[in-house]
Amino acid sequence: MTNTTHTPRVFSGVQPSGAMHLGNYLGALKKFAVLQHKHECLYCIVDLHAITVWQDPAVLKQQTREIAAAYLASGVDPKKAIIYPQSRVKAHTELAWYFNCVARTGWVNRMTQFKDKAGKNAERASVGLYTYPVLQAADILAFKATHVPVGEDQKQHLELSRDIAQKFNNDFNVPDFFPLPEALTQGPGARVMSLRDGTSKMSKSDPSDNSRINLTDSAEMIVKKFKKAKTDMGVMPGHEEDLSQRPEVDNLISIYSALSEESRETVIGRFEGKGFGEFKPALADLAVDKLAPITTLMSRYLADSEEIDRILLAGADKAAQIAEPIIADVRKTIGFLGT
Ligand code: TYM
Repeated sequence: MTNTTHTPRVFSGVQPSGAMHLGNYLGALKKFAVLQHKHECLYCIVDLHAITVWQDPAVLKQQTREIAAAYLASGVDPKKAIIYPQSRVKAHTELAWYFNCVARTGWVNRMTQFKDKAGKNAERASVGLYTYPVLQAADILAFKATHVPVGEDQKQHLELSRDIAQKFNNDFNVPDFFPLPEALTQGPGARVMSLRDGTSKMSKSDPSDNSRINLTDSAEMIVKKFKKAKTDMGVMPGHEEDLSQRPEVDNLISIYSALSEESRETVIGRFEGKGFGEFKPALADLAVDKLAPITTLMSRYLADSEEIDRILLAGADKAAQIAEPIIADVRKTIGFLGT
C-alpha cells in the first residue's frame, strides 16, 4: 500500500439491501479479514446508502444484522477491526452535506452506477440515489481513510472521492488535509460476473437467483447453480488468449482462481482440454468447501442478535471517536461560528 503523508487506515462498506453473494465475498469481504492484521480497519454497514431505494423498515434491521454476521463469519474480528452501522455515526451525514457543496453536479452526472440503477426513470429516482457517491466519499474521508478494499464496480466512486478530497484541500488551502483514498481492487475476484451472462456483473438485484451464489445458499443449491451456469460448446482453454470471446468461461476460471488462491494460469493449466462436465463439479466442490463454513457461522451469529447489536453499537462508539475530531477540524476549516 502506498500513500505517504497519511497513516494507512482502511475503510469499506456493504449495503444491507439484500442477500450477500459470491461477488461481495470475493470482491470485498475476503480482503477485510486479511487487512485487519496489518492496519486499522473500519467496516461499515451502509444503511444510509441502502435507503436511497425503498427498504421495508421491518426488514432493514435484520438485513443490517445479516451483513454484520457475514463480516464476522468471514473472519472479521471486532477486537481488531471496527464494525458498525453507518446511521449510528452522525459524521457521515454531516460531512456528506459539506461534500455536496464541494462536489460539482457535472462530476455526479458522470456516475455510471446512478445511470444503471435509475435507468430510464431517472426523474423518479430519489435525490439520495443521485448524491449516493458523495455520501460514499464522506464515509471514507470522515476517517481520513487511505485505502478502500472494494470490487471493480466501485472504482468510479473512488475516483470521485479523490476529486472531492482534492477540491476540498485546494478550496480551503489545506494541502494534505484529506488523503486521496486508493481503491484496493487487485485479484481475480474483483469483478465476478453473473452465472447466466458473462457480460453483466453478479448482483443482488438480478431477478434470476440462478445468476448468483448467495452466501446463504445450501451446498445442493451451489452445486445446482454451477451445473446450470452458462458455458459454451467448447472445452476448457489452454491459454488466456483463448478466452477473449468466452466471457462465461473466463468468469468461472476467475471464480475458481479467487476461491483456490491459485493464479489463473495454474487453473487454466490444470483443466486444459477437459470438458465442463469435469470442471463444473470441481468448481462447485471448491465453492462448497470455502463457503459452507461461512454459511454455518453466519447462522450461528444470527441466532444471537443481541450479541450482534452489542458489537455494532460498541463499534459505532469507537468509529464516532475517530471521526469527531476530524469533523471538528472540517467545521473550523469551513469557518463556522463557534469553531
Ligand atoms: P455493495 O453493497 O453493492 O457491494 C459491497 C461490495 O461488494 C463488491 N461487489 C462485487 N465485487 C466483485 N464482483 C461483483 N459482482 C460485486 N458486486 C459487488 C462491491 O464492489 C463492494 O465492495 N457503494 C458501495 C458501498 C459503500 C462503500 C462506501 C464501499 C458505501 N460507502 C465506502 C467502500 C467505501 C456498494 O454499493 O457496495
